[in-house]
Amino acid sequence: VRAEAIAALVRIEAGAWSDRLLASREALLADRRDRAFFHHLVLSTLRWQGALDRALSPFSRRPLGALDAPLRAALRLGLAQGLLFDRPAPVAVSTTVDGLRRAGAERGAGLVNAVLRRALESPEPLDVRATLPAWLVERWSERFGDEACAELARVLATPPRPFLVASPSSGGRARLAERLKDEGIEAEPSTLHPQGLRVLAGVPQESRAFSEGAFVLLDAGAAAVALLAGRAAEGLRVDLAAAPGGKAALLAHSGTGPLVALEPVRSRARDLARNLRRAGGRAPVQALRADARRPPLPAGSVDLALLDAPCSGTGTLRRRPERRHRLRPEDVRRAVRLQDELLDAAAALLRPGGHLVYAVCSLEPEEGRERVAALTQRRPDLVFEDPAAQLGPEFARFVEGDPPLLALRPDRVDAEGFVAARLRRLL
Ligand SMILES: C[S@@+](CC[C@H](N)C(=O)[O-])C[C@H]1O[C@@H](n2cnc3c(N)ncnc32)[C@H](O)[C@@H]1O
Repeated sequence: VRAEAIAALVRIEAGAWSDRLLASREALLADRRDRAFFHHLVLSTLRWQGALDRALSPFSRRPLGALDAPLRAALRLGLAQGLLFDRPAPVAVSTTVDGLRRAGAERGAGLVNAVLRRALESPEPLDVRATLPAWLVERWSERFGDEACAELARVLATPPRPFLVASPSSGGRARLAERLKDEGIEAEPSTLHPQGLRVLAGVPQESRAFSEGAFVLLDAGAAAVALLAGRAAEGLRVDLAAAPGGKAALLAHSGTGPLVALEPVRSRARDLARNLRRAGGRAPVQALRADARRPPLPAGSVDLALLDAPCSGTGTLRRRPERRHRLRPEDVRRAVRLQDELLDAAAALLRPGGHLVYAVCSLEPEEGRERVAALTQRRPDLVFEDPAAQLGPEFARFVEGDPPLLALRPDRVDAEGFVAARLRRLL
């Protein structure tokens, strides 16, 4: 398991995405507990990598960045085992060195052994803020304060809890929870969605109920955004940036009006079509491979446009832990340009009286509040609606500012970070 984990960390550092890589490698591990441990080791090491590096560097004569990638991966993994998994130091060191040898990097074993021994001798607690890139810490400390920034870092360094929404075909969440229990999955009702369940134990995507489309697996914040997009809608609806399709699936469940779901990236469009087929629903659904800046729909024809825009993803660092190592301030600036183009295209689709729901899984104001404010300058025929009016009073505590936007922060609610606005085109 350690050898596989070191190999995986090396490939992720070279650019692979953890979710796809882990899925492709775990089949090599026959034992279910080994697979779970493999996941946990790799993802925790990635989440804490910045803080692990900071703690390791005084003990390595050569800078970590100058070491061969497998040695760097082994050092991080070894320290994570000792400090995050509470393995006694000698066990953390010996299993890591053994893993490194099995991963074929015999030559670095002495160095890894020596550095880890020293680092684990009398370790200081890891600095959780170092798990985030320095520019983000600076941004968040300035905006939210030092304490809230540290709390955000702490929350984003923990594994997310799976969340699911019962499909209409399941007979409702109470029946679904019973069924899942029979399959060894424990889940409890959530206040964030009337059909939502928080998973407390078990792996829902391995259940029969999942393959039969009895629920949609998505983050609780994403489910709230889908709720904001509407209940029981009847007219033409479009999800302009739909893959992998969690929100589109909930739209298909929540109305009878036709739904068109767009995604330009070929592999993601394929996943989207498959996920929407599995989720079912009463609405006729069409998944299309298309760029939403040039949507294949007539202007002024749409009752509801959902734009869950591509963004820097600073609210979702928990789910894709390596994203934090790749994120640069320019990514925010680049996302903003595309978001404006997509917002203009989405607004052009609305019929008079139609609604636009805009969301980003980013905590950066440039991508959220500032984008919709700029849109309403360009399009004064669009007006804001209070998200709490659509979502219900239990969401009032997550509605912020003027104009009122839904603002979910992972340090305040067990969900990813989202900012979302609901706008209506005047008649
Ligand atoms: C935040 S994700 C959407 C998540 C999705 N709404 C869900 O609930 O599963 C943004 C998506 O926008 C797609 N995208 C990027 N550029 C786009 C464009 N020009 N038009 C439409 N979608 C785009 C990305 O490939 C990505 O799949």
